[in-house]
Amino acid sequence: MIQYFIGAAVTCTVFIPLAFFIIRRAVDKTRELEKRAMHSERLAFVGTLAGGLAHEIKNPLSTFSINLQLLMEEMQSRKGENGNKAYTRIQALQREVHRLEEILNDFLRYAKGQKLELENCNINEVVDDVVDFITPEIKQKKILILKSYDLHLPYCRIDVNLIKQAILNIVINAEQAMEQGGELMIRTSCNNKFIQIDITDTGSGIPKDSLEKIFQVYYSTKKTGTGLGLPTAKRIIEEHKGMVSVLSEEDKGSNFSIKLPIDLKIY
Ligand SMILES: Nc1ncnc2c1ncn2[C@@H]1O[C@H](COP(=O)(O)OP(=O)(O)OP(=O)(O)O)[C@@H](O)[C@H]1O
Ligand SMILES: [Mg+2]
Repeated sequence: MIQYFIGAAVTCTVFIPLAFFIIRRAVDKTRELEKRAMHSERLAFVGTLAGGLAHEIKNPLSTFSINLQLLMEEMQSRKGENGNKAYTRIQALQREVHRLEEILNDFLRYAKGQKLELENCNINEVVDDVVDFITPEIKQKKILILKSYDLHLPYCRIDVNLIKQAILNIVINAEQAMEQGGELMIRTSCNNKFIQIDITDTGSGIPKDSLEKIFQVYYSTKKTGTGLGLPTAKRIIEEHKGMVSVLSEEDKGSNFSIKLPIDLKIY
């Protein structure tokens, strides 16, 4: 009988509260998961809406652009001070329309969840295509390009166009950080797990307290920057199961490292 009471007391004082505690935690966890799922569904929904909105804005904007172009051509044929003033104003409008178009294109590029089109390729060739593309502009700014490619890189499965876009975004930033000229070093290397691409500049560098912000959407310190270049690059690289990191020192320069896994399996 005493044993029965002891058993009942232990059950009441230990096991029942413990059971309550465990159930409570399970309920809390389920609620938390539900909340997170709703939040990410909502985010995806907002992303889709914003993407749709951006597309809708793009069409009338291109009509604006075409008509402004026609107006400019008309104005150009008119002589006189009034014609010149109007021409200059229309030119300013045209510039702003182009800027808006660029912002929308950047946004759409970032917002679009893209399906990767993987192919086997040599990263050196991909990097070199980007360097060739940007070379004329870079040379004008008195920036010296130094290339150091590991000639024994294994082939890598990537979406070539997207990876080019990611590298280009980082290279353009490097170029913009060296307005007074400098050196741009592009290096490739590998170990048995990943291929590494280093993009190093001798530009303005990034202040310590800004380093954690540079990959945030819309963070920009530039007059006409949209702040989508690095978030887009990061997203593309992470979609390839890779990573991007940065080391920087103010007034000395920055180094961005992209690591792409060699054995890339994306399901
Ligand atoms: N190599 C670099 N040197 C110095 N600052 C850099 C460098 N790369 C990035 N940054 C800083 O990070 C910020 C964010 O870069 P990000 O490419 O995302 O946007 P952005 O260049 O300002 O605009 P855009 O969307 O046109 O690329 C930049 O505004 C700049 O302050
Ligand atoms: Mg940029």
